[in-house]
Amino acid sequence: MTLLEVEGLRVKIRTEGGEVTIVDGVDYAVEPGQVFGVAGESGSGKTISVLALLRLLPRGATTSGRALYGGRDLLRLSGRALRRVRGRELAMVFQDPLTSLHPMMTIGRQLSEHVRIHEGLSRRAALARASELLAEVRIPDPKRALEAFPHQFSGGMRQRVAIAGALATRPKLLIADEPTTALDVTVQAGILRLLDRLRRESGLSVILITHDLGVMSSIADHVSVFYAGRIVESGPPPELLSAPRHPYTRALLDALPHPEAEGRGELQAIRGLPPSPRNRPPGCAFHPRCAYATEASLEQVPLLRPVGERRLLACHVDPFAPGP
Ligand SMILES: Nc1ncnc2c1ncn2[C@@H]1O[C@H](COP(=O)(O)OP(=O)(O)OP(=O)(O)O)[C@@H](O)[C@H]1O
Ligand SMILES: [Mg+2]
Repeated sequence: MTLLEVEGLRVKIRTEGGEVTIVDGVDYAVEPGQVFGVAGESGSGKTISVLALLRLLPRGATTSGRALYGGRDLLRLSGRALRRVRGRELAMVFQDPLTSLHPMMTIGRQLSEHVRIHEGLSRRAALARASELLAEVRIPDPKRALEAFPHQFSGGMRQRVAIAGALATRPKLLIADEPTTALDVTVQAGILRLLDRLRRESGLSVILITHDLGVMSSIADHVSVFYAGRIVESGPPPELLSAPRHPYTRALLDALPHPEAEGRGELQAIRGLPPSPRNRPPGCAFHPRCAYATEASLEQVPLLRPVGERRLLACHVDPFAPGP
């Protein structure tokens, strides 16, 4: 039973210069208890594509396609049904946890009010539940932490608090947007272990967004690589990271100071810049930066098609296909 099935998701945003397509036809499925990774450079549409699922897009945005969750299309839910799903089934940890925590309110007050609203608990029961949640995300001395203000915590601890807040309603799907990006490597590993434990212990599914493909190798069951609002390649991390098929995935890996990229020569930045949604190149949007582009790449948008078991690729050329 698939938990979430996204089909042909498109997001357009009206801007002063006219309407621009930010997410351009994205398909994927998230299974129960699975960590589904979303990777790609800044501006590729990772955040907008998940905000669309929660219907938290900026004003002037329109969405098309389907996002089936429990037989219902999230993109078409309205009013009460939408609030119920958003509160109880899906939860999000936003890209910058400082912006989602109120600076002048204690952690205890913020967490317990959140719990009170969703679970209708008394003030006291809500505080007890808040303390439980802090323990669940391994915050040392939860009782004392309840009295603290966000700025008294380190970045890693704040990220744990944000995750605790998201778990308050016992969601089935947690969307974590760059939860480890601002953290140093050890703290980052701690947050990833936490997500991994939550998935194993309570069957939580996670959509994990990160521009860092290295992070995926330790935790994701499936990775999709976004480029200019589309998925260009996806598959299980061991295969995808050790033998990337899309020139863009390969370039991303080559730019990584991670062991996965070892043995592939010097660390290289990807030449050129990702296109802005306003002037996306025709055909394969990656073609101006690609050493393997052919005429077809310039003219036709390559479709995501199966290549081997559980792997998908959108490239006309497929220069890294395994030999016969
Ligand atoms: N409110 C908005 N109005 C117009 N364009 C927007 C708006 N929000 C985002 N965009 C554009 O949509 C594109 C995708 O943005 P998004 O935030 O989804 O990228 P991202 O992949 O999450 O990047 P990052 O890694 O930096 O978080 C970007 O080009 C961005 O400029
Ligand atoms: Mg983002």
